[in-house]
Order: sequence, then structure tokens, then C-alpha cells
Amino acid sequence: MSQPNQRVAIIRGVRTPFAKSGTLYARLTALDLGKFAVTELIERSGIDPKEVQEVVYGNVIPSVKAPNIAREIVLGTGLPRSIPGYTVGKACASANQAITAASDMIFRGYADTVVAGGAESLSDVPVLFSRNMVDAFMRANKAKSALARVGAFKSVRLKDLAPDTPAIAESTTGLSMGESAEKMAKENGITREAQDRFALQSHQRAAAATESGRFRDEVMTVVVPPSFDEVVDKDNLIRADSTLESMAKLKPVFDRKYGTITAANASPLTDGASAVLLMSEEKAKAIGLRPIGYLRSYAFAALDPFDQLLQGPVFAVPVALERAKITLKDIGVIEMHEAFAAQVLSNIQWLGSKKIAQEKLGRSEPVGEIDPEKINRTGGSIALGHPFGATGARIVTTVCNELQRTGEQYGLVTVCAAGGMGAAMVLERE
Ligand SMILES: CC(C)(COP(=O)(O)OP(=O)(O)OC[C@H]1O[C@@H](n2cnc3c(N)ncnc32)[C@H](O)[C@@H]1OP(=O)(O)O)[C@@H](O)C(=O)NCCC(=O)NCCS
Repeated sequence: MSQPNQRVAIIRGVRTPFAKSGTLYARLTALDLGKFAVTELIERSGIDPKEVQEVVYGNVIPSVKAPNIAREIVLGTGLPRSIPGYTVGKACASANQAITAASDMIFRGYADTVVAGGAESLSDVPVLFSRNMVDAFMRANKAKSALARVGAFKSVRLKDLAPDTPAIAESTTGLSMGESAEKMAKENGITREAQDRFALQSHQRAAAATESGRFRDEVMTVVVPPSFDEVVDKDNLIRADSTLESMAKLKPVFDRKYGTITAANASPLTDGASAVLLMSEEKAKAIGLRPIGYLRSYAFAALDPFDQLLQGPVFAVPVALERAKITLKDIGVIEMHEAFAAQVLSNIQWLGSKKIAQEKLGRSEPVGEIDPEKINRTGGSIALGHPFGATGARIVTTVCNELQRTGEQYGLVTVCAAGGMGAAMVLERE
């Protein structure tokens, strides 16, 4: 085991190609996808699986049958069964939480090699029965005769048969993510055109990055079971042929009359998985591995969901920067998770605002201006897709690979999450 208080090295990261839910991975589960990513990660990094001491994995909508996906991944891959695993849920920042939790173990010296990441299948969400129906099943279960079992369903009405699917809505405000983003667009004056332009850029950059082979280091090939006929080696949501004109024709989804958010400027419902290998710096160097980056600092924060739900990153970024002892100006590569174009543009607006700094952050000066050329240079969640539990590890891997490619020293990751939460991580090269 390594000494405590060491830098945490990110050896490498990999992800499945992301797919629109209900398409390529329609018959697969988050566990299937997670197993692909972790198996590939171990293979690509060339380490002995016995070196892994824990798997920490993010997942937002867990399977009712196997809720601890992390341990199921251990059991379902070639990893030794002696490796424990635990699952974390922090909405869209779940993989960030998985990575930072794993890093904390390494920092304490409790482990020197940990796999972290996350997976989501929005093709495989649990469909629930209504409470009345569940009560009837319980009564029938306890019934002592066939007649009593039938009687247990006497109070069930037709409406009780309707399935109850999980909503992407806040339990406190009752608003969906899209409705919350609409509220932000209105309050911050983010126009439809600005959102569409940002979304178009996301697609163009993602298409260019894919075309140039820049994702080769981080995107694996999946041969899709059970038929194994389909070979997937790139994300299927990127629209290289998007235009502002075609986007402008779309009707708003979350506020049909006055809204600005459409299918084109929102992140789509997505299936996919990602994984990163973390090690203590000492261990990585001892076995001759060359990390793609190091975690320098991180912060999680939250604001009242009744305020602007997806502004969490604005609260987390200054804390992560202070912990890293650098400023926004020192950052060369920025990856901001794109839940909605309106959210990224709102985050950027608030980060640059003195008024927000003084009124909401308790700071005299704004956090800083985000250079548009530094953010999401290979596209973001709007174009690549957003499997909730997996996105954080996708972004961390991309930032590290971009630091390697550009020679920049520091990278920043931001992710907004349900409940008004935000994550920020500062990564560094060597
Ligand atoms: C916005 C949302 C409802 C759209 O879902 P959808 O209707 O299934 O989306 P589709 O992919 O079918 O697109 C709808 C239409 O827009 C079109 N479209 C989508 N992206 C486009 C683009 N970039 N350019 C042009 N047209 C586009 C599609 O072609 C489709 O057109 P059609 O109806 O003529 O076939 C869904 O993606 C969603 O809920 N996103 C938000 C998810 C969320 O809240 N996540 C949490 C955030 S952290």
C-alpha cells in the first residue's frame, strides 16, 4: 500500500460509445454497459486485475434487482471476487463523486489502485406499479386461499394499472430539469438563438473530434449482445449535418408557448458507461505507468432548487480553484457538462458577474470570464449524449487527454446536478 497524502493519478479513462436511449443498447442494462467499460479499462491499462482494491461506480436510476452496480461489475467481469465495490448517487455528478471518493481512499493511503466511473441506461428504467396496485399484491401474497387472493384485487381501479415511471423532476419544486432550465433562460435573458448556436457548436466540435480520431484513446468498440451483429465504435447522437435553420424549426418542449428549449439545444436521453483507473502517484511510477493527469482539487456545492436549479457549478468552481491555489486564468482546458445550452450559458453568465459574486457567493469579485475557445473543444453532452451516471468520468478523461494533447497545465471540470448541486474538479498534467 502507498503512503498517504499523495497526489492521485488518473492512469487512463475509457467509455462505451454513447447511444440515444432506445437505440443501439435498447436491450442492455447499465450493468452490461458498466462491465464493458471496466473490462476495457483494465485491458487497455495493462494492469494485473489483482492490483485493483475497490470499484466505486455512479448510477442515478439503479436497477431494482441489482442496486449495487459497482459490486455487480466486479462479479460480472474477470476481476477477482475479493474486490469490494460500492455505488454512489449524486445525480448527474455521480461519476464525479465516484472519482473523488476513490481518490480520497488513495489520499488516505487506504488503497493505491481503484476503478471509478459510472453507467446509465435510460432504455432500462424501472417501471413501477401504483401504490394501490402494490398494496393489492401484498394482500394477495398474504392471502390463504385462491378466493382471498382474487379478493385482494377488489379495490383496484383501472387507473391503478397505469405504470409509474421515474420522472426527471425535482421533488421539491415539482419542475422537470427542462422546465428549470427554461426558468433560467428567461431569468438570465438567454435567447433561443444563443442556445441553438451553442448546441450547433457542440455538434460541430464533437463531429470534428470524432472524425480526427481524437476520441480513439477514450472510446471503445462495443459488439452489441445478444446477436453481436452490431459493432459500435462511435457515439450515435452527433449530428454533423446540424444547421441553425433546421434547429430553428423545432418546437420548444418544456414551455410550448413561450419556451426556448428544444430537442436540439438539450442533452438527449442516453445510454452509456465510463470508467477511469486511479492510482497513487507512487504506485503508478513504481510500476512504470504514465498517468494522463492528476486530480489537484475538487468541490461540491449546492443552492436552493427554487433559485436557479442548474447553477450549482458556479458555487463549486471558486472553492475548487481556491483549493487548487490557482485562478480561472490559469486554466487551459475547461469541460462544462451541457445539460442544456441555456444552463451552460447561464453558468458562464453567473461566473462572470460581480453582482452574483456579491449577492450569492459572498465574494467581492466575480469568479471570472470563461474563454469560449477553452470550453468543450471536443463537443459536450448536447452532442455526445448524457448517460447521467457516466458523464462525470467521460469529462474527466477528456480533460486529461486534452491536457496531454495541448500541453496546458490545468483543466477544469464542471457538472450541474439535480437538487441544485454542482461539482467542480481541477486536474493537472504531470
Ligand atoms: C428534449 C427531449 C424531450 C427531446 O426528446 P425527443 O423528442 O425524443 O428527441 P428527438 O431526438 O426525437 O428529437 C425530436 C426532433 O428534433 C429533431 N432534432 C433533434 N436534434 C436536432 C438537431 N441538432 N438539429 C435538427 N433537428 C434536431 C429530431 O430530428 C426530431 O425530429 P422529428 O420529430 O422530425 O423526428 C429529450 O431529449 C429530453 O428530455 N432531454 C432532456 C433530458 C434531461 O432533462 N436531462 C437531465 C439534464 S441533467
